[in-house]
Amino acid sequence: MISYVEHLLFSFFIFLYRHIKGLILLTLTFSLCVIFYNFELCVRSAKPPETLNNAVTQKRSYHKTAPPTVTKHIGLHYHVAHPLNYHFILNEPDKCSQWNPFLVLMVPVAPHEVNARNAIRSTWGTESSVQGKAVLTLFLVGLTGGAEAQQKMEEESRQHRDLVQSNFVDSYFNLTIKTMVIMDWLATRCPQATYAMKADSDIYINLENLMTLLLSPNTPRQNYITGYLMLDRPVVRDTKSKWYVSEKLYPEPIYPTYAQGSGYVFSNDLPEKIVEISKEVMGFNIEDAYVGVCLKRLGFALSSPPDPSQFRLHMGQYKREDFLKIISVRVGSPQQILNIWKDVKRPK
Ligand SMILES: *[C@@H]1O[C@H](CO)[C@@H](O)[C@H](O)[C@H]1NC(C)=O
Repeated sequence: MISYVEHLLFSFFIFLYRHIKGLILLTLTFSLCVIFYNFELCVRSAKPPETLNNAVTQKRSYHKTAPPTVTKHIGLHYHVAHPLNYHFILNEPDKCSQWNPFLVLMVPVAPHEVNARNAIRSTWGTESSVQGKAVLTLFLVGLTGGAEAQQKMEEESRQHRDLVQSNFVDSYFNLTIKTMVIMDWLATRCPQATYAMKADSDIYINLENLMTLLLSPNTPRQNYITGYLMLDRPVVRDTKSKWYVSEKLYPEPIYPTYAQGSGYVFSNDLPEKIVEISKEVMGFNIEDAYVGVCLKRLGFALSSPPDPSQFRLHMGQYKREDFLKIISVRVGSPQQILNIWKDVKRPK
């Protein structure tokens, strides 16, 4: 027979047992919450926003590790503009270690534009030393789209040793990919350079003036980018325009400040930072504005050139004196680059 007290005790223990189970469950849940909360905190405090240097703390890993660390919103696959989606077909991997350039001029160009490349090769692209500093000029192309064209490309590469080719479809729409591949090449194949310039194939560059700017004690050697600054530019929403960008790709109505794409100059620590942050910045087809969006994400301001008139989009009637003052200007045809060079460089 179970006494009343025993019965009471028994019930109490049953109650306690159930209660303890609940308590254990509660404690477990609570501990898990604490662990997750701390984990989140840890993850967040490892990368405070808006500072350029913090984007770099994770830099070294991006080349080797497959799973991205910061692509939460974009998913496991990088968006189309991210350079890790592509690989080099033609390359000059040792050029920078051999040359040790102070300044690298990277020229995005269409595969068939051999005249443009040749004009540059015989004008500003020939200048391998300016004010005692080594300068290197390289061309960046995408896929040629044909076996015969590819063969020509390879011949040209063997002859000049100045071509870098990546395996994306080369088109106007894909210029952002080209720019990001340039950034990737600079970050991984040419970290020893101090400055780089993204220079379109239809511009004239006065390297003497560019070097004077870069060697000025007032020009920073880090976190520096300058050019023709584009301020408060509205995003083109006209679907017929070649600059059209959908709201899906870039929802804001105005671009952040960016350097106009025909020629911008930057300290060579930036490419690595831009490539890293671009994992988080959805790609869109306006390459210069895209770089601006990446810079803004890095919390980084562009510098106005000491003399803004040295970075020009166009020039009116040709005047030799103008070309003695500028750093870069778009001039149009390869023949014009040749003509202007000849005239500017003639002895006075
Ligand atoms: C851009 O490049 C990607 C990768 O090569 C390709 O899949 C896509 O078709 C290209 N887009 C255009 C419009 O050329």
